[in-house]
Amino acid sequence: MIDNNGRSIDYLRISVTDRCNLRCIYCMPERGVCEMEHTQILRFEEILRIVRVMAGLGVKHIRLTGGEPMARRGCLELAQQLHAVPGIESISMTTNGILLKDKVHQAFLAGISSLNVSIDALNPAVYSRLTRGGDVSQALCTLQQALEEGMNVKVNTVPVRGFNDEDLIPIARLAQEAPLCVRFIELMPIGYGTQADRIPYAETAKRLEAAFGTPAEDSQTHGHGPARYVKYPGFKGSVGFISAVSHEFCASCNRVRLTADGRLKLCLNHTEGLDLRSMLRQGADDTEMMDEISKAIANKPGRHAFYEEISDHEERNMNAIGG
Ligand code: GTP
Ligand code: 5AD
Ligand code: SF4
Repeated sequence: MIDNNGRSIDYLRISVTDRCNLRCIYCMPERGVCEMEHTQILRFEEILRIVRVMAGLGVKHIRLTGGEPMARRGCLELAQQLHAVPGIESISMTTNGILLKDKVHQAFLAGISSLNVSIDALNPAVYSRLTRGGDVSQALCTLQQALEEGMNVKVNTVPVRGFNDEDLIPIARLAQEAPLCVRFIELMPIGYGTQADRIPYAETAKRLEAAFGTPAEDSQTHGHGPARYVKYPGFKGSVGFISAVSHEFCASCNRVRLTADGRLKLCLNHTEGLDLRSMLRQGADDTEMMDEISKAIANKPGRHAFYEEISDHEERNMNAIGG
């Protein structure tokens, strides 16, 4: 599908649940959020139906997100079924890794070839403070299992001033020692992200350069997302930067999102979208669905417009969007 800005949309991020076993300070409030009711959440058959229709429109890559995708029972069975949909070429997952521990082989067998594990600190006390109670050793265990499985592995790290300042270099070292990508994600001003203190891209890059030397551009493709990759001298893996604030990448955006409650969300920072759950439950056939989805995608917003006056700024927390 090509949208009205000439962008080819072939990547669907599916948030399977808004629930999470952690409470990262920039994502969720301490006491958790008011969770969506069961009847509001798409059933797996409904997700599969949407994916079949969207595969017919050119979607090739699926990423399962949350909240924490593994917090929804049956998530790996869903992955397996999605993997079998004609036209779907890859299934990936973004996870905090904790509930996936000891299930990585099962995930691989279900067709998940690429795993992005969110780890904001290696220091157990810092990780616990940032996630409000998480145990980093479990996330690291999943990371190790994914490498042993031969999966394409990435670590997602959001630098937050006053929290993980001292952990950024140790985290980058994971890519020095193993063939994985460490990505530093600039904190975006969405939900609780507005209340935490972003360390901008330039500052992170400067600190990495001081520690590891001048990097070279890495032209290898590592996924389907917006990261830009570099290689520091002697590194087995790569370091990526996702800098939506400092370097807007909307002009090459290739994705849309399906929220757990069945909205086709056209841009991370816009509420505008299509209520696919109502269409499905009111009996729309595949042709009607295809027409509506095509029209919606054609009108995908041009850019996130984080700091501008727009009529439909996203106000939900990241756990309800899936990143
Ligand atoms: P791969 O490149 O395929 O590994 O996936 P990805 O980087 O798109 O997926 P992941 O879920 O790991 O996302 C990493 C970060 O990028 C998260 O913080 C997302 O919120 C952010 N991100 C992903 N897509 C977009 C987007 O369209 N716009 C913005 N602003 N941020 C995005
Ligand atoms: N800005 C940037 N990244 C965020 N994530 C969650 N909230 C934000 C935010 N406000 C990240 C998580 C995870 C991915 C899905 O999105 O850390 O790695
Ligand atoms: Fe959970 Fe991810 Fe949000 Fe942390 S950032 S609370 S792991 S959904």
